[in-house]
Amino acid sequence: MSADHQQVLIIDFGSQVTQLIARRLREIGVYCEIHPYNKVDGAFLNEYQPKAVILSGGPNSVHWEGSPRADAAAFQLGVPVLGICYGEQTMCAQLGGAVTASDHREFGRAEIEIIGQSPLLAGLKPNETVWMSHGDRVDAIPEGFAVIAKSANAPFAAIADEQRQFYAVQFHPEVAHTPCGGQILRNFVLDIAGLSGDWTMAAFHLEEIEKVRAQVGKGRVICGLSGGVDSSVVAVLLHEAIGEQLTCVYVDTGLMRAGETAQVVDLFRDHYNIPLVAVDAGGLFLDALAGVSDPERKRKIIGGLFIDVFEAEAGKLGGADFLAQGTLYPDVIESVSFDGGPSVTIKSHHNVGGLPERMNMQLVEPLRELFKDEVRALGRELGLPESFVGRHPFPGPGLAIRIPGEITREAVEILQKADTIYLDEIHKAGLYDDIWQAFSVLLPVHTVGVMGDERTYDQVLALRAVTSTDGMTADYFPFPHEFLGRTATRIINEVRGINRVVYDITSKPPGTIEWE
Ligand code: XMP
Repeated sequence: MSADHQQVLIIDFGSQVTQLIARRLREIGVYCEIHPYNKVDGAFLNEYQPKAVILSGGPNSVHWEGSPRADAAAFQLGVPVLGICYGEQTMCAQLGGAVTASDHREFGRAEIEIIGQSPLLAGLKPNETVWMSHGDRVDAIPEGFAVIAKSANAPFAAIADEQRQFYAVQFHPEVAHTPCGGQILRNFVLDIAGLSGDWTMAAFHLEEIEKVRAQVGKGRVICGLSGGVDSSVVAVLLHEAIGEQLTCVYVDTGLMRAGETAQVVDLFRDHYNIPLVAVDAGGLFLDALAGVSDPERKRKIIGGLFIDVFEAEAGKLGGADFLAQGTLYPDVIESVSFDGGPSVTIKSHHNVGGLPERMNMQLVEPLRELFKDEVRALGRELGLPESFVGRHPFPGPGLAIRIPGEITREAVEILQKADTIYLDEIHKAGLYDDIWQAFSVLLPVHTVGVMGDERTYDQVLALRAVTSTDGMTADYFPFPHEFLGRTATRIINEVRGINRVVYDITSKPPGTIEWE
């Protein structure tokens, strides 16, 4: 929480799309945080001092016993409040209106008609398309409120008490299916709450440098650098803040893509002059993985060895007081579960998880308040080359989970060669930035082929490319057929050991992005 910002508080009632409210506000240049409803009481609000409050949607009915409510203090702060969906219903129930449970759920696209004048709906057309998703409906609005928009099924699609600056909408302005939603949120935070929208990456950059200096003092910091976007941004930011007090440790597991280690060393050690220990642990990892086929065992072996190597290197450096990690905001948000209790969804999926306790280090997490696309924006602000900022995610276990079955040095080499060609073709076609992640998988399947006059009996390579916004769901990328044909031909001609190429068209769910 940062008291210097003109911050907006989003009280979470457990909607699937609460995070989108935060994203939309950040896009407008307004800093905001999401907190679960049951953590927001009078004392919290007093300390937090939000400039505006948004009540999110949620899966409950206000008629269910024990269904969540906003703390009454939220309505006594004297700041604008916007209720969204369930937020509208609880606002009405709490301020003296009437909400009825309805058997008829309204779900999906709806048309609203703007009636009356309100700064909340300024700039909207007389009729707009919105996205509704609600069961309960408001039947009587509290005193002081007026209807400002209606739809066929929701006579109180949007309501306002202009005097107290309380607003509520039955639909979800934060989702892309409500095209006018951005304008509504902009009206609320800029015009109604009077915020300036001055939260920029340049400002965040400078503030974060000061915060890191204040936290770290003269302490020593180590940072696990994987070469991915998040850890690269952390490393450069920290180096700017604390210079030589930072040492980065990069572990080459022998399961990286071709040329990866050289790129990381070039950029961080040679270009930025960041103290960097690059550990060549390929032999160690590949020996430990010999004969192992089970995906979970592979992951466990790699995770365990990674920590051992990292710990040994940190020990050689004489230890450190802090461990820097690229934890992002979606990893730290606590969301509300369906039964109303807080469900802690803090993930500890980072490769060096478990180390801080073992080595008695405190964490430095300068990206804790950012979404992935904001991390990329910060990377650009820091001057990181586009080739690092726009990189596709790469999993900690590396190529090990892209070689189903046993991992051999030969298999790693074949996969590296094929993957380099695949990515090269993607770059040449100008498609890299349209894809969330693209990679190859070397299958433990041999098939018969014919090359020249020779019979071949070689392995199958699967190509994978997906679009996604957060890696939680994904769809396969619709490459033109010529692209796939050209790439397959190049791989089979140039990589010994592969004589057949297939393209994976599975979405997530039901598949996952990686094969293991
Ligand atoms: P799945 O395969 O679960 O992957 O659909 C979702 C995203 O997570 C990445 N991934 C990992 N990243 N360590 C990581 O740092 C891991 O163990 C790991 N496993 C999967 C995957 O590449 C995709 O971006």
